[in-house]
Amino acid sequence: MNAAVFQGPDPAVRHAWNDLVQRIVEAQQAYYGNDAPILSDAAYDSLMGELIDLERAHPGLRTPDSPTQRVGAPKMTDFASFTHPSQMLSLDNVFSPTELADWMHRTQAALGGEPVNWLCELKIDGLAVNLVYRDGRLVTGATRGDGRVGEDITPNVRTIRDLPGVLTADPAPREIEVRGEVFFPTAAFGDLNASLVADKKAPFANPRNAAAGSLRQKNPAITATRPLHMLVHGIGVHNEAGTMIRQSQTYELLGSWGLPTATTFRVLNSVGAVLDFVAYHGEHRHDLAHDIDGIVVKVDDLAAQQRLGNTSRAPRWAIAYKYPPEEVNTKLLGIEVGVGRTGRVTPFAVMEPVLVAGSTVARATLHNPTEVARKGVLIGDTVVIRKAGDVIPEVLGPVVGLRDGTEHAFVMPGHCPSCGAELRPEKESDKDIRCPNARSCPDQLVERLVGLAARDGLDIEVLGEKGARALLSSKVLDNEAGLFDLTADDLVEADLIRRQLTDESGDEEKFQYVFTRAAKKSDPPEMVREGRVLSVNGAKLLANLETAKTQPLWRVINSLSIRHVGPVAARALAGALGSMAVIREASVEELARIEGVGEIIAEAIVEWFAEPWHRDIVERWAQAGVRMADAPPQTEARPQTLAGLTFVVTGTLEGFTRDDAKDAIVVRGGRAAGSVSRKTDYVVVGAGAGSKATKAAELGVPVIDEEAFRRLLESGPSGVESVSGPDR
Ligand code: IVH
Repeated sequence: MNAAVFQGPDPAVRHAWNDLVQRIVEAQQAYYGNDAPILSDAAYDSLMGELIDLERAHPGLRTPDSPTQRVGAPKMTDFASFTHPSQMLSLDNVFSPTELADWMHRTQAALGGEPVNWLCELKIDGLAVNLVYRDGRLVTGATRGDGRVGEDITPNVRTIRDLPGVLTADPAPREIEVRGEVFFPTAAFGDLNASLVADKKAPFANPRNAAAGSLRQKNPAITATRPLHMLVHGIGVHNEAGTMIRQSQTYELLGSWGLPTATTFRVLNSVGAVLDFVAYHGEHRHDLAHDIDGIVVKVDDLAAQQRLGNTSRAPRWAIAYKYPPEEVNTKLLGIEVGVGRTGRVTPFAVMEPVLVAGSTVARATLHNPTEVARKGVLIGDTVVIRKAGDVIPEVLGPVVGLRDGTEHAFVMPGHCPSCGAELRPEKESDKDIRCPNARSCPDQLVERLVGLAARDGLDIEVLGEKGARALLSSKVLDNEAGLFDLTADDLVEADLIRRQLTDESGDEEKFQYVFTRAAKKSDPPEMVREGRVLSVNGAKLLANLETAKTQPLWRVINSLSIRHVGPVAARALAGALGSMAVIREASVEELARIEGVGEIIAEAIVEWFAEPWHRDIVERWAQAGVRMADAPPQTEARPQTLAGLTFVVTGTLEGFTRDDAKDAIVVRGGRAAGSVSRKTDYVVVGAGAGSKATKAAELGVPVIDEEAFRRLLESGPSGVESVSGPDR
């Protein structure tokens, strides 16, 4: 089981938070919803104070849901109220595997210790809705409200395309309440906000708010334009279930009547299997069409459910395992721009640092000015940010209700923040804005050096951003052309490095010891310049550069920062043409014909080599001894067993590093791609394979293990059967 799934604040703290939130929400509902306060104002304020303090100590708890993040009172409803035929219950929560296991043991004991079948489902992060069907016809759709009385939103619910107006049940039940969750697909969320902003309307903070906002429109015609979906997960009053023994059977029945039921539920019979289900979906929660915030575990047997009964707010036969929150609110302090290695100028959000999904987030890319506008965020906004596990943090949207009028829109600067050149899109239709000064823009140079030193470049471990800046601002290096000519003599130009950096940053300490240090008596005098000598890092840089010269051709190609040319295209080029000299002389047509290259990349390559200072980089690297050909051309030496096939390798293989596996594919005529699509022929899975394997299963792409991969390398696709997907 993956321990990372269970990170987050201490369960005891989460419980305390949950408790406070529940008491505050109940008090709000009583006060505003029922006109019957259950707390004095002072008691209410003191609860709120406690919550604020707790969130200050544990900022990860400050989710968009928290009462501290909502404006004032809940709105009085515009809709008629609807008394649910039977109460809509909520769920109790657990936050750790231990708590879940304890709950399961307790529940089993309460049922006399007999083995229990556990119905495990995804906890959809949407809006709870109650549907009433009478004689098979949908008569009411209502929000949960306080569980007893909700809002009647029937006309809006009727616009949800998943929902049958008439059940295909024969005979139809006289009356049945069907409960479920309405959600807004995560993939459609960005487009919705963009169109709202374009219409000068307020954007939503996250997909759940989008679901709630879309469903609670006064005008159902607007709801009808929103791609809402529903999945049902239970029934209320009914006069049907006499024949039903298990809850999982009710889903089959509801499904057979035409209602949308989830396909992801499982009936499991051990604590271990349930915990595996929890861990699996914790890792794969982003592979779904909708957000989930946990797993719901239910006792499947309906008679056992009855024996356990309910508390005043939740059933004793079900529990929600809540995943750590991945969304929190924070302040958008500013929007700055950065320059990338191909000159792309990218706005990024600078935020009040906040803990989310186990790490502190203070920055997030906003991609381009169009994307900033699409999201509808203003500088000074409270924004919802999401950090999904290891995934890069993302600004979802603004909390419009918390605006106070001081917020202002971002304006893209007209000039490069690094070199001052005038910024422009390369083509009129481009969304990306670029700094055209590729040759000498300092930020572009630094990014290019850092990029070529990366693991899938020439793997020069000690050359990070600090080192790149030191080399450039000391003028030891003008650009990447001279990188492989660097000598110890150059590097110990320490005085230069120090002076330049002091001038530039005013922070001598920060850079002084990047590649040099003060000389000691024991240092060989021939290595000492003005009291300075190569540091450990300086020596490592020279050693790294020597090793880098022997890297295979595709890495050299990948290190040239040619637009659109990443590791996949670089491998394809090296595999097909074998040497830099051939690539350099090739025409657009010749390049475009290579599997995995195509017209756009081919044009970018020819354009790149047309630039004299680019050719100079290649020439100087070659003179310095950087490998410029893969000899002998491996494509000829190997039988082309994988010709025309596209592979994706994911997870850890035992007998290959990821790069070895890709090399093995390319030299046999295949293509090694980075992501799974319908065009993928095989996905090779190793240990710890994640979302790519799931995607393959979804798209019906064959998934093979290492052994099958070896056979395939040997003799091609004949005789290789795919193995099953991630459930194996
Ligand atoms: S069962 C009596 N199953 O989560 C049992 N609820 O935090 C009631 N939810 O009020 C709920 N997915 O709106 C159940 N698969 C699922 C669910 C689910 C989402 C919602 C539901 C509930 C809330 C409790």
